[in-house]
Amino acid sequence: MPKLTSELSLAIESLQKGKLVAFPTETVFGLGGDATNQEAIKRIFKVKGRPSNRPLILHVPNLETVKKIVLDWSLNESKLAKKFWPGPLTLILKNGNLISQSAVAGKKTVAIRIPSHPFALSMLRSFSEIGSGIVAAPSANRFGYVSTTNARDVEFSLQNYLDETDVIVNSSPRNNCQFGLESTIVDCTTNSPKILRVGVIKKSEIESCIGKTVDVGLTEDGKIDYPGTCSSHYSPKTKFKVMTRAQIELNLSKLCEGGKTFLWYFQKPVKTSQNLTAEVAPSTAPEYGRQLYSKLNNLDRRGLNLIIFEEPPTGEDWNAICDRLEKAKSR
Ligand code: TXA
Ligand code: MG
Repeated sequence: MPKLTSELSLAIESLQKGKLVAFPTETVFGLGGDATNQEAIKRIFKVKGRPSNRPLILHVPNLETVKKIVLDWSLNESKLAKKFWPGPLTLILKNGNLISQSAVAGKKTVAIRIPSHPFALSMLRSFSEIGSGIVAAPSANRFGYVSTTNARDVEFSLQNYLDETDVIVNSSPRNNCQFGLESTIVDCTTNSPKILRVGVIKKSEIESCIGKTVDVGLTEDGKIDYPGTCSSHYSPKTKFKVMTRAQIELNLSKLCEGGKTFLWYFQKPVKTSQNLTAEVAPSTAPEYGRQLYSKLNNLDRRGLNLIIFEEPPTGEDWNAICDRLEKAKSR
């Protein structure tokens, strides 16, 4: 069993010993280990059950550390870092030689971010005084399943894979993940920057920061090991559907015949069923995003036959949410 603690010193000690620390960030919980320690990196892949060809994001306390890791530091990344760091933005940059090849899955590029969560930032700052200060961390969940935004969900997802020398940071609820969705990933290694994963920071914000339009898509080589190319992701184990209001009205009775069903709706359906529990979903994108993963993780433990979410509104504010729901429903 991993240790559950809110103490910074225990987290830093574990990192320094090459152990793993599941820690809160402003996006989701990360499963962190010292990026310069091969053994720690190996264990991250094992605990997460993640294929070794999927590189990890490096979390660092400051720009100075970023510049030690990367080969180039140009105008676009400089503008983006100035505006959005510390915060929910990950930049893909050219990799130098500092970081173990397994952390970056042998890539010539590297994903980096400076998180803004107070615990994460303090942990990275203190770790840089006694160790590398570079924490490689994927989201703290088993590969392909729902990301986590509180210590309890991390425990459910990973406790059977972590051991007693690892740590799960038990932050207070008000100190949990402020945004609840993963960082926006921007590839700055090509002439025109490209968004590889939509996230908390919107496309229009990226564009207005660097003063040109950006595409959303895959890396140049379009390899299968990059974000967005894995069709099933963020998925609950329970059967999960995202449906329009019209589809819900038409099919709800039939769907409920299969057993206990949960519906997260924006507009209450007219029909009902004994098997149905229906709750209203948050109407604003920030609140919906903040609650999404904890809702899914919680529902996944209730022994339901089916989870249905009413399709959210369209519009840029809802982009990252729609992206995650699209992938969550395609297990
Ligand atoms: O908000 C977040 O970004 C969270 C918190 C913990 O920081 N982290 C996170 O990590 O979402 P993860 O591992 O679940 O997703 C990172 C994505 C993966 O799809 C990985 O393939 C991609 O980033 N990635 C990492 N390095 C890359 C690189 N050099 N080029 C392209 N994609 C990369
Ligand atoms: Mg993830």
